[in-house]
Amino acid sequence: MNMGLEGVIAAETVLSDVDGQRGQLTVRGHLLEELAGRASYEDTLSLLFAGFFEDLPDRAELQRALGAARLDMFAHLRHADRALIALDPMDGVRALVARIADGSRLGTAMHLIAAPAVFLAGLCRLRQRQDPVVPDPDLDHATDVLRMMALPASALQARALDAYLVTVADHGLNASTFAARVVASTGSGLVSSVLAALGALKGPLHGGAPGPVLDMLDEIGQPSRASDWVDAALQRGDRLMGFGHRIYRVRDPRADALQAALKSLPVAGDPGHQRLELAKAVEAVALEALRRAKPDRVIQTNVEFATALLLDGLGFERDTFTCVFAIGRVGGWIAHAREQTLTGRLIRPQSRYIGPRAA
Ligand code: ACO
Repeated sequence: MNMGLEGVIAAETVLSDVDGQRGQLTVRGHLLEELAGRASYEDTLSLLFAGFFEDLPDRAELQRALGAARLDMFAHLRHADRALIALDPMDGVRALVARIADGSRLGTAMHLIAAPAVFLAGLCRLRQRQDPVVPDPDLDHATDVLRMMALPASALQARALDAYLVTVADHGLNASTFAARVVASTGSGLVSSVLAALGALKGPLHGGAPGPVLDMLDEIGQPSRASDWVDAALQRGDRLMGFGHRIYRVRDPRADALQAALKSLPVAGDPGHQRLELAKAVEAVALEALRRAKPDRVIQTNVEFATALLLDGLGFERDTFTCVFAIGRVGGWIAHAREQTLTGRLIRPQSRYIGPRAA
């Protein structure tokens, strides 16, 4: 039996292809390297959504519609009571997304693209006892996310976040996208699909890894301690966050795309680039230790390692990292949910019963 469905083809898609042997990610005919740092998040949405919505507007109109959707979602923040604000940011965002009216048309899609950004920013501000920053519908999504989060939003920083959002927008049939497609296959609406995907993304084996990557770097503290720390972690049977992938058997191409974005960034709070130097040392030590510990399994650096450094460099708090991932990946979830609805069948696998039989 194939536990974890490794290697199982469960859908056909025109959206993206993950080539684990060559370390390539193709998004609708474009290699990631052609998109990240060149196309904007709005361009990428246009690419992903083409053919899946009857009323898909041109690129400029899509940016306007997304800006208007941010304003619509801002109104939902009035439902954020104290209990909701006290939740982990991902749980708070998910609770607010659950209030959006379900549907399958472009308007619902735009609300869902806007929602994680507006809700995360609003909840962070409310947690700091500050008023949420009203979205600016005239800005591009990446710039407005930084603005709403009250983070530095120079053109360089916005470009780096934009490159991140594009890099993570879609990635084959990963766990959260599969969850979105399973729900879409029942005929449920886009909000239900995105809620399922948010739940799947939250786990540390999927989108919850980058916060713990920074915790690991903090605990290690300096390059000379990396080897002992990593060996002790592996001996305890811990997983090293930011390493390993179900499909990539070579370096995750998204890690390289993010390293490029990272290089262009003035890293706040790390003027001597000490954290980057530490990260480089830890990465080398970890890869070597994983090679020794798991000689039969190729374990390489994954996207989350560079994500941690990039989002930290942009000023995001580490408990928001998974939500920032959702701000980008929501585009992929929606495109897959629409593709499943339009071309797929009810997803209903079987389980093998290993419990007792009735006498
Ligand atoms: N550290 C230590 N050991 C590891 C790691 C790691 N990062 N990754 C895999 N292994 C080991 C496992 O313990 C397992 O060993 P065993 O066979 O002796 O039990 C073996 O390698 C295979 O591991 P699986 O979990 O079966 O492999 P899978 O393909 O499911 O792993 C996963 C993928 C879940 C991402 C894994 O590599 C992992 O847990 N990584 C750490 C968490 C992480 O970085 N998550 C982000 C992934 S990227 C993303 O989702 C956007």
